[in-house]
Amino acid sequence: MTKCSAPGKMILFGEHAVVFGKPALALAIDLRISAEMTRSAQYSVNGHAMKKKHHAYISAALDQAWGGPPINIDTDSMIPSGSGLGSSAAVTVSCIAAMLLQKGKLEVEEVARRSFEVENKVQGRASPTDTSTSAHGQGVLVSPEKLDGFLWRIEKGDRTWHMHHCSVPTLRFVVGYTGIHAATGPLVAKVKKLVESSPEAKGQVDRIGEIVLEGVEALRRTDKKKLGALMNENHALLNALGVGHPALESLVEASKEFSYGAKLTGAGGGGSMIALTDEPKKLAAAIRAAGGEPIMVEVGCEGVRAEQ
Ligand code: MEV
Repeated sequence: MTKCSAPGKMILFGEHAVVFGKPALALAIDLRISAEMTRSAQYSVNGHAMKKKHHAYISAALDQAWGGPPINIDTDSMIPSGSGLGSSAAVTVSCIAAMLLQKGKLEVEEVARRSFEVENKVQGRASPTDTSTSAHGQGVLVSPEKLDGFLWRIEKGDRTWHMHHCSVPTLRFVVGYTGIHAATGPLVAKVKKLVESSPEAKGQVDRIGEIVLEGVEALRRTDKKKLGALMNENHALLNALGVGHPALESLVEASKEFSYGAKLTGAGGGGSMIALTDEPKKLAAAIRAAGGEPIMVEVGCEGVRAEQ
Protein backbone atom coordinates (compact mmCIF):
# COMPACT_ATOMS: atom_id res chain seq x y z
CA MET A 1 0.00 0.00 0.00
CA THR A 2 1.32 3.55 0.66
CA LYS A 3 4.13 5.14 2.65
CA CYS A 4 4.65 8.86 3.34
CA SER A 5 7.03 10.86 5.50
CA ALA A 6 6.89 14.33 7.04
CA PRO A 7 9.39 16.54 8.91
CA GLY A 8 9.38 17.82 12.46
CA LYS A 9 9.71 21.53 13.09
CA MET A 10 11.29 24.10 15.34
CA ILE A 11 9.36 27.22 16.22
CA LEU A 12 11.79 30.09 15.87
CA PHE A 13 9.35 32.67 17.26
CA GLY A 14 5.76 32.82 18.40
CA GLU A 15 4.72 29.55 20.10
CA HIS A 16 1.72 29.86 22.41
CA ALA A 17 0.92 33.41 21.19
CA VAL A 18 -0.03 31.86 17.83
CA VAL A 19 -2.81 29.87 19.52
CA PHE A 20 -4.42 33.28 20.22
CA GLY A 21 -4.18 34.24 16.53
CA LYS A 22 -0.82 36.08 16.74
CA PRO A 23 1.94 35.46 14.14
CA ALA A 24 4.55 32.69 14.41
CA LEU A 25 7.56 31.56 12.40
CA ALA A 26 8.39 27.85 12.17
CA LEU A 27 11.11 25.99 10.26
CA ALA A 28 10.95 22.38 9.07
CA ILE A 29 13.90 20.30 10.35
CA ASP A 30 15.66 17.24 8.95
CA LEU A 31 14.21 14.84 11.54
CA ARG A 32 11.33 12.94 9.90
CA ILE A 33 8.59 10.46 10.72
CA SER A 34 7.30 7.97 8.18
CA ALA A 35 3.99 6.11 8.17
CA GLU A 36 3.37 3.02 6.03
CA MET A 37 -0.14 1.61 5.58
CA THR A 38 -0.80 -2.06 4.90
CA ARG A 39 -3.97 -4.16 4.88
CA SER A 40 -4.57 -5.93 8.18
CA ALA A 41 -7.15 -8.11 9.94
CA GLN A 42 -7.61 -5.38 12.57
CA TYR A 43 -6.68 -1.73 13.10
CA SER A 44 -3.15 -1.81 14.46
CA VAL A 45 0.00 0.30 14.91
CA ASN A 46 3.41 -1.30 14.48
CA GLY A 47 1.72 -4.69 14.70
CA HIS A 48 -0.10 -4.01 18.01
CA ALA A 49 -3.86 -3.52 18.31
CA MET A 50 -4.72 0.18 18.04
CA LYS A 51 -5.79 1.81 21.32
CA LYS A 52 -7.45 5.23 21.14
CA LYS A 53 -5.65 6.40 24.28
CA HIS A 54 -2.16 5.21 23.31
CA HIS A 55 -2.41 6.08 19.63
CA ALA A 56 -4.43 9.27 20.00
CA TYR A 57 -3.10 11.05 16.89
CA ILE A 58 -3.14 8.02 14.59
CA SER A 59 -6.60 7.00 15.72
CA ALA A 60 -7.93 10.57 15.22
CA ALA A 61 -6.22 10.66 11.80
CA LEU A 62 -8.07 7.48 10.81
CA ASP A 63 -11.38 9.06 11.86
CA GLN A 64 -10.47 12.17 9.87
CA ALA A 65 -9.26 10.66 6.59
CA TRP A 66 -9.84 6.93 6.30
CA GLY A 67 -13.14 5.02 6.41
CA GLY A 68 -11.77 2.03 4.49
CA PRO A 69 -11.03 -1.54 5.66
CA PRO A 70 -8.81 -2.25 8.72
CA ILE A 71 -5.14 -1.31 8.26
CA ASN A 72 -1.85 -1.56 10.09
CA ILE A 73 0.27 1.59 10.28
CA ASP A 74 4.01 1.16 10.75
CA THR A 75 5.70 4.30 11.97
CA ASP A 76 9.39 5.09 12.00
CA SER A 77 10.43 8.19 13.93
CA MET A 78 13.61 10.22 14.32
CA ILE A 79 11.84 12.66 16.69
CA PRO A 80 11.49 12.05 20.44
CA SER A 81 7.82 12.41 21.41
CA GLY A 82 6.99 15.38 23.66
CA SER A 83 10.30 17.03 22.72
CA GLY A 84 8.77 20.21 21.28
CA LEU A 85 10.06 19.27 17.83
CA GLY A 86 6.72 18.48 16.21
CA SER A 87 6.52 14.70 16.57
CA SER A 88 2.72 14.72 16.89
CA ALA A 89 2.37 16.95 13.82
CA ALA A 90 4.78 14.82 11.77
CA VAL A 91 3.07 11.55 12.68
CA THR A 92 -0.34 13.06 11.93
CA VAL A 93 0.76 14.59 8.61
CA SER A 94 2.51 11.41 7.42
CA CYS A 95 -0.51 9.24 8.33
CA ILE A 96 -3.07 11.56 6.74
CA ALA A 97 -0.89 11.81 3.61
CA ALA A 98 -0.57 8.00 3.36
CA MET A 99 -4.37 7.63 3.69
CA LEU A 100 -5.16 10.30 1.10
CA LEU A 101 -2.58 8.83 -1.28
CA GLN A 102 -4.11 5.39 -0.86
CA LYS A 103 -7.53 6.85 -1.64
CA GLY A 104 -6.32 8.75 -4.72
CA LYS A 105 -4.06 11.75 -4.40
CA LEU A 106 -1.74 13.51 -1.96
CA GLU A 107 -2.62 17.20 -1.92
CA VAL A 108 -0.50 19.22 0.52
CA GLU A 109 -3.09 21.82 1.51
CA GLU A 110 -5.69 19.14 2.21
CA VAL A 111 -3.14 17.22 4.30
CA ALA A 112 -2.44 20.41 6.30
CA ARG A 113 -6.15 21.16 6.90
CA ARG A 114 -7.07 17.67 7.99
CA SER A 115 -3.95 17.33 10.15
CA PHE A 116 -4.81 20.57 11.98
CA GLU A 117 -8.28 19.18 12.77
CA VAL A 118 -6.62 16.09 14.26
CA GLU A 119 -4.19 18.08 16.45
CA ASN A 120 -6.93 20.43 17.58
CA LYS A 121 -9.15 17.49 18.54
CA VAL A 122 -6.44 15.59 20.42
CA GLN A 123 -4.89 18.62 22.19
CA GLY A 124 -8.18 20.39 22.93
CA ARG A 125 -6.90 23.66 21.44
CA ALA A 126 -4.15 24.22 18.88
CA SER A 127 -2.90 26.45 16.09
CA PRO A 128 -2.17 25.05 12.61
CA THR A 129 1.53 26.07 12.87
CA ASP A 130 3.08 22.63 13.44
CA THR A 131 0.90 20.71 11.00
CA SER A 132 1.16 23.28 8.19
CA THR A 133 4.96 23.47 8.63
CA SER A 134 5.26 19.69 8.55
CA ALA A 135 3.09 19.58 5.42
CA HIS A 136 4.70 22.49 3.50
CA GLY A 137 8.27 22.16 4.82
CA GLN A 138 10.93 24.92 4.46
CA GLY A 139 9.76 27.88 6.54
CA VAL A 140 6.21 28.90 7.38
CA LEU A 141 5.11 32.33 8.58
CA VAL A 142 1.71 32.23 10.26
CA SER A 143 -0.10 35.54 10.40
CA PRO A 144 -3.58 36.93 11.09
CA GLU A 145 -3.24 38.89 7.81
CA LYS A 146 -2.62 37.72 4.25
CA LEU A 147 0.94 38.65 3.20
CA ASP A 148 3.39 37.86 0.35
CA GLY A 149 4.03 34.14 -0.14
CA PHE A 150 0.46 33.18 0.87
CA LEU A 151 -0.20 29.43 0.91
CA TRP A 152 -3.60 28.82 2.57
CA ARG A 153 -5.92 30.09 5.29
CA ILE A 154 -7.25 28.09 8.24
CA GLU A 155 -10.02 29.22 10.59
CA LYS A 156 -11.26 27.97 13.96
CA GLY A 157 -13.90 29.84 15.96
CA ASP A 158 -12.92 33.52 15.99
CA ARG A 159 -9.29 32.84 15.01
CA THR A 160 -7.91 32.99 11.47
CA TRP A 161 -4.40 31.98 10.47
CA HIS A 162 -2.88 32.74 7.06
CA MET A 163 0.00 30.42 6.15
CA HIS A 164 2.90 31.78 4.08
CA HIS A 165 5.98 30.26 2.50
CA CYS A 166 9.16 31.63 4.02
CA SER A 167 12.61 31.08 2.48
CA VAL A 168 15.19 29.93 4.99
CA PRO A 169 18.83 31.04 4.68
CA THR A 170 21.65 28.73 5.77
CA LEU A 171 21.81 29.05 9.55
CA ARG A 172 23.26 26.72 12.20
CA PHE A 173 20.98 25.77 15.04
CA VAL A 174 21.63 23.25 17.78
CA VAL A 175 18.69 21.76 19.66
CA GLY A 176 19.09 20.92 23.34
CA TYR A 177 16.63 18.23 24.39
CA THR A 178 15.98 18.10 28.14
CA GLY A 179 14.71 14.51 27.96
CA ILE A 180 11.58 15.70 29.77
CA HIS A 181 8.41 14.71 27.96
CA ALA A 182 5.85 17.53 28.03
CA ALA A 183 2.35 17.16 26.59
CA THR A 184 1.24 20.23 24.63
CA GLY A 185 -2.49 20.27 25.54
CA PRO A 186 -2.14 21.07 29.28
CA LEU A 187 0.49 23.77 28.61
CA VAL A 188 -1.73 25.46 26.04
CA ALA A 189 -4.65 25.32 28.52
CA LYS A 190 -2.45 26.82 31.28
CA VAL A 191 -1.46 29.80 29.10
CA LYS A 192 -5.10 30.35 28.05
CA LYS A 193 -6.17 30.56 31.70
CA LEU A 194 -3.39 33.03 32.49
CA VAL A 195 -4.04 35.26 29.47
CA GLU A 196 -7.77 35.39 30.20
CA SER A 197 -7.17 36.54 33.76
CA SER A 198 -4.08 38.76 33.45
CA PRO A 199 -3.76 41.91 31.30
CA GLU A 200 0.01 41.66 31.78
CA ALA A 201 0.06 38.19 30.21
CA LYS A 202 -2.10 39.47 27.35
CA GLY A 203 0.52 42.21 26.78
CA GLN A 204 3.25 39.54 26.71
CA VAL A 205 1.37 37.62 24.04
CA ASP A 206 1.03 40.85 22.01
CA ARG A 207 4.78 41.51 22.30
CA ILE A 208 5.57 37.97 21.11
CA GLY A 209 3.48 38.73 18.01
CA GLU A 210 5.64 41.81 17.32
CA ILE A 211 8.85 39.83 17.87
CA VAL A 212 7.76 37.39 15.16
CA LEU A 213 7.42 40.15 12.57
CA GLU A 214 10.77 41.69 13.58
CA GLY A 215 12.22 38.17 13.37
CA VAL A 216 10.96 37.68 9.82
CA GLU A 217 12.77 40.87 8.75
CA ALA A 218 15.96 39.76 10.54
CA LEU A 219 15.74 36.35 8.84
CA ARG A 220 15.41 38.04 5.42
CA ARG A 221 18.62 39.98 6.12
CA THR A 222 20.27 36.89 7.75
CA ASP A 223 20.96 39.23 10.68
CA LYS A 224 22.13 36.67 13.25
CA LYS A 225 22.74 39.21 16.04
CA LYS A 226 19.19 40.54 15.77
CA LEU A 227 17.74 37.03 15.50
CA GLY A 228 19.61 36.00 18.66
CA ALA A 229 18.45 39.06 20.61
CA LEU A 230 14.85 38.40 19.58
CA MET A 231 15.19 34.72 20.57
CA ASN A 232 16.39 35.78 24.03
CA GLU A 233 13.48 38.20 24.44
CA ASN A 234 10.95 35.62 23.21
CA HIS A 235 12.35 33.11 25.70
CA ALA A 236 11.97 35.54 28.63
CA LEU A 237 8.34 36.19 27.64
CA LEU A 238 7.60 32.44 27.46
CA ASN A 239 9.05 32.08 30.96
CA ALA A 240 6.76 34.90 32.10
CA LEU A 241 3.81 32.98 30.61
CA GLY A 242 4.72 30.02 32.82
CA VAL A 243 5.92 27.47 30.26
CA GLY A 244 9.60 27.44 31.24
CA HIS A 245 11.37 24.67 33.15
CA PRO A 246 14.58 24.63 35.25
CA ALA A 247 16.15 22.06 32.89
CA LEU A 248 15.48 24.35 29.92
CA GLU A 249 16.99 27.25 31.85
CA SER A 250 20.23 25.33 32.45
CA LEU A 251 20.58 24.56 28.74
CA VAL A 252 19.77 28.14 27.69
CA GLU A 253 22.32 29.46 30.22
CA ALA A 254 24.97 26.96 29.07
CA SER A 255 24.55 27.92 25.42
CA LYS A 256 25.04 31.68 25.97
CA GLU A 257 28.85 31.57 25.50
CA PHE A 258 28.64 29.96 22.04
CA SER A 259 25.42 31.36 20.58
CA TYR A 260 23.76 34.52 19.29
CA GLY A 261 20.68 33.68 21.33
CA ALA A 262 18.62 30.81 22.66
CA LYS A 263 15.04 30.01 23.56
CA LEU A 264 12.73 27.16 24.39
CA THR A 265 10.93 25.85 21.32
CA GLY A 266 7.43 24.37 21.08
CA ALA A 267 5.16 24.02 24.06
CA GLY A 268 7.88 24.21 26.78
CA GLY A 269 7.48 22.66 30.25
CA GLY A 270 10.49 20.49 29.39
CA GLY A 271 10.96 19.44 25.77
CA SER A 272 13.70 21.34 23.94
CA MET A 273 15.51 24.62 23.48
CA ILE A 274 17.25 25.91 20.36
CA ALA A 275 20.30 28.13 19.96
CA LEU A 276 21.63 29.94 16.90
CA THR A 277 25.38 29.61 16.53
CA ASP A 278 28.52 29.70 14.39
CA GLU A 279 30.18 27.15 16.71
CA PRO A 280 27.88 24.12 16.68
CA LYS A 281 30.44 21.67 18.09
CA LYS A 282 31.32 23.85 21.10
CA LEU A 283 27.66 24.62 21.67
CA ALA A 284 26.72 20.93 21.51
CA ALA A 285 29.44 20.12 24.08
CA ALA A 286 28.15 22.88 26.41
CA ILE A 287 24.58 21.54 26.12
CA ARG A 288 25.76 18.03 26.91
CA ALA A 289 27.83 19.23 29.90
CA ALA A 290 24.67 20.94 31.23
CA GLY A 291 22.75 17.64 31.11
CA GLY A 292 20.94 18.01 27.77
CA GLU A 293 21.04 15.96 24.59
CA PRO A 294 22.38 18.10 21.75
CA ILE A 295 20.85 17.50 18.32
CA MET A 296 22.38 19.14 15.25
CA VAL A 297 19.58 19.98 12.85
CA GLU A 298 19.32 21.33 9.34
CA VAL A 299 16.46 23.79 8.83
CA GLY A 300 14.25 24.62 5.84
CA CYS A 301 13.81 20.96 4.82
CA GLU A 302 11.32 19.33 2.47
CA GLY A 303 7.71 18.90 3.64
CA VAL A 304 5.44 15.87 3.35
CA ARG A 305 6.30 13.41 0.57
CA ALA A 306 5.42 9.97 -0.71
CA GLU A 307 8.10 7.32 -0.13
CA GLN A 308 8.81 4.24 -2.24
C1 MEV B 1 3.51 23.66 19.96
O1 MEV B 1 4.53 23.17 19.11
C2 MEV B 1 3.20 25.07 19.63
C3 MEV B 1 2.10 25.73 20.47
O2 MEV B 1 2.04 27.09 20.04
C4 MEV B 1 0.77 25.04 20.30
C5 MEV B 1 0.14 25.26 18.93
O3 MEV B 1 0.52 26.17 18.19
O4 MEV B 1 -0.82 24.51 18.63
C6 MEV B 1 2.46 25.73 21.96
